[in-house]
Amino acid sequence: MTGATTAIILYNFNGARELRASLDAILGQTRPADQILVIDDGSIDDSPAIIDAAVGRDPRVSVVRNDRNLGLPASRARALAMVVTDYLVWTTVHDRLLPTLLEGKPHEWAKEFDPKRVTLHPRELGTLAKENLDVALQFGDYLTPGQVGDVASIPNGEGRVIRRGAHKIAVYKDDAGRLHERSAACTHVKCIVDWNTAEKSWDCPCHGSRFDPFGKVLNGPAIDDLHPAP
Ligand code: FES
Repeated sequence: MTGATTAIILYNFNGARELRASLDAILGQTRPADQILVIDDGSIDDSPAIIDAAVGRDPRVSVVRNDRNLGLPASRARALAMVVTDYLVWTTVHDRLLPTLLEGKPHEWAKEFDPKRVTLHPRELGTLAKENLDVALQFGDYLTPGQVGDVASIPNGEGRVIRRGAHKIAVYKDDAGRLHERSAACTHVKCIVDWNTAEKSWDCPCHGSRFDPFGKVLNGPAIDDLHPAP
């Protein structure tokens, strides 16, 4: 990768609880990224202040904010239009990039955290990057807590990811308070889905698959519905 430029795009929506750790992992790369763009998808938690602090302390960090929550596909398109680079890592607030990811060296944690990076041709994500794009899948998500500790914290008409043992569960609470549970593992390549409040859907941050509140697939590349909760 000698002489090549590198960029990292970090997608965030209401991820204040994990945002500092995610940013620290990005800023702590042994081969520093040339550009770090945070796309904030209309967060209403403490995310904006955390992002502003990162922008203030490192000139490589910039932010683009959606006025309202647009969901992952629209946010990704917006962010990609703002980055020109040779190599790009797409990551989300739930990820923790291994320190040597950009350097391309193995790391002692790699086996435990196996990010299972997938290389995509630029045609798959647009025309902005010149060479292959590395998408760091968010397998670290399996190790992090859920968005809420229990289903009682989920408002009616909303969804949240909760942890149950070793599993992440996508829980939708309908307007009558009934719970609908599916596995939160996207059926494409197993990234953990996020709830999209604006669209009332489960969105996958890795490649943009979307599922309705009950787990039925709306948009690919996933072709199967979210699996029943384990
Ligand atoms: S893992 Fe690829 S769309 Fe979800």
